[in-house]
Amino acid sequence: MTVLVTGGAGFIGANFVLDWLSVEDRPIVNLDKLTYAGNMQSLASVLDDKRHTFVRGDIADTELVSALLNSHRPKTIVHFAAESHVDRSISGPDEFIRTNVLGTFHLLESTRRYFESLCASDQDEFRFINVSTDEVYGSLDPQNPAFTETSRYAPNSPYSASKAASDHIARSYFHTYGLPVITSNCSNNYGPLQFPEKLVPLMIMNGLHGKPLPIYGDGLNIRDWLYVGDHCAAIRLLLDRGQPGETYNIGGDSEMTNLDVVQAICTLLDELVDGARVYPHKQLIRHIEDRPGHDRRYAVNTDKIRTELAWQVSETFKSGLRKTVQWYLNNQNWIAEVESGDYLNWMESHYGHRAAGR
Ligand code: NAD
Ligand code: TYD
Repeated sequence: MTVLVTGGAGFIGANFVLDWLSVEDRPIVNLDKLTYAGNMQSLASVLDDKRHTFVRGDIADTELVSALLNSHRPKTIVHFAAESHVDRSISGPDEFIRTNVLGTFHLLESTRRYFESLCASDQDEFRFINVSTDEVYGSLDPQNPAFTETSRYAPNSPYSASKAASDHIARSYFHTYGLPVITSNCSNNYGPLQFPEKLVPLMIMNGLHGKPLPIYGDGLNIRDWLYVGDHCAAIRLLLDRGQPGETYNIGGDSEMTNLDVVQAICTLLDELVDGARVYPHKQLIRHIEDRPGHDRRYAVNTDKIRTELAWQVSETFKSGLRKTVQWYLNNQNWIAEVESGDYLNWMESHYGHRAAGR
């Protein structure tokens, strides 16, 4: 009962692979293109694990994906691979359309052909988890209740539009071809191994270096924060008990303004960093020009996954943020590799050529 993950060297994907190997015996095949956002250092502890097969490659490479599917014969695909950063989608949307829209389409096509070759009982068991975002619903007015699974899609950034497009294509593969697709729409993840371009790790790393903490606009935009370990647990539940053709919101029940998030990080850095360069860290906060088209608020209603699948979060924002800051403090080597770019050199020397197998 092999599982194939795409994007398993990225932030959530790597957490999922590590989590999976800590609780499951089933093998995992990890297909990742190793863009700047993929980091094999994150998977260092499982590179020699025989249950884990890493393959460098593109989800849009139908020849490679078909060969992988036919040789490993997975019962499940968890699709994380994407371009994921809103700011990059604003400065360069092309790659977002290429990977998130066209890449997902090609992956679905390869999967459909493989799925159609399976016997009826294997088809019954097969699942394709399409990992998406709450950003597809657009910006939520402050007075309105959280988005539900039936809220209208209204994406506002090239990133969220590309994810919305891929969600629609995935949906059509269920309705047209009977491919057992489940889509999850989750809120902002945070936790270990996140690339320091996203709010939480950027603020932790800048704070550690005594650098300014840039807040877009007034800092009162609201996001819901989901600890990555809770997200991984939710995906495992979807694999086991999610209903094909359904979508599930996954959220942390932790709506916060950006300013409150950054202030909470500053308070933790004040407490946990010995010999800090700056104290208190909140003096590093700087309001800068707002992001174009900056969505004001995201929040998801998680009644469906909680009632139907008995999922619940194990971390509050307070406990999860403390773990996260502590992880970055304890993993200065990972940070140094990312900051120097050495992780990219290391990957080129080990995975420069697309390899079959690890
Ligand atoms: P990430 O940017 O950290 O990692 C993406 C991974 O995908 C990288 O390892 C990259 O090398 C790989 N990749 C990119 N293009 C590829 C391609 N064409 N073929 C194969 N691999 C490719 O992203 P993340 O934060 O881990 O997000 C994972 C998924 O979850 C994405 O689909 C994202 O849209 C979604 N999501 C993320 C968040 C969040 O807060 N991070 C929130 C909601 C949804
Ligand atoms: P981000 O981590 O980029 O996630 P997303 O845009 O997908 O929600 O940003 C989270 C929030 O933090 C978002 O409202 C933008 C804001 N932000 C800043 O204020 N400063 C920053 O340097 C970054 C990266 C984000």
